[in-house]
Amino acid sequence: MRKVSLKGRTYPTDLNPGGTAFGGWVMSKMDKAASIAVDDIIKSPAVTVTVSRINFLKPIHNGDIFTIYTEITAIGNSSITIYVSVEVKNLDTNEEYEVTSSEFKFVAINTEGKPVNVRNVLRDDIDDDVKTLL
Ligand SMILES: CC(C)(COP(=O)(O)OP(=O)(O)OC[C@H]1O[C@@H](n2cnc3c(N)ncnc32)[C@H](O)[C@@H]1OP(=O)(O)O)[C@@H](O)C(=O)NCCC(=O)NCCS
Repeated sequence: MRKVSLKGRTYPTDLNPGGTAFGGWVMSKMDKAASIAVDDIIKSPAVTVTVSRINFLKPIHNGDIFTIYTEITAIGNSSITIYVSVEVKNLDTNEEYEVTSSEFKFVAINTEGKPVNVRNVLRDDIDDDVKTLL
């Protein structure tokens, strides 16, 4: 089940010289949204291990309001895979359209930075659809 993990608006400092959102800025927001989705299901820290095939589908413009949706799609031993989708709202029609998507993989770690089994650090109140991935 996808969830809203982050919302925001684009400002002039977020733009590239062409006047649309800088790709690295978008990726940073996506990484933060994915980390929030991970924190929703585990109690331990986690780090990004891979970002796969980031798709910049449509430009994001100055002033655009964006919502970042996340969905946990796989759980390994220590890894959690999250589909991340950035959508922008067309303020005339009130409809959202996808502008960027990617798959992030995080690894749950202990205080020494070593991978830990996700099942040992799960929160008590995780959604049923996430339970089916265990
Ligand atoms: C992530 C990290 C802790 C993994 O440590 P590691 O010793 O390689 O751990 P492992 O080989 O046991 O792999 C752990 C998990 O990551 C996955 N993984 C590791 N490298 C991967 C890669 N290149 N691609 C896909 N999956 C990978 C493994 O498949 C494994 O998943 P599983 O436990 O669900 O089966 C370590 O590589 C690290 O600290 N990287 C830096 C993270 C970082 O700084 N991120 C940016 C800031 S958040």
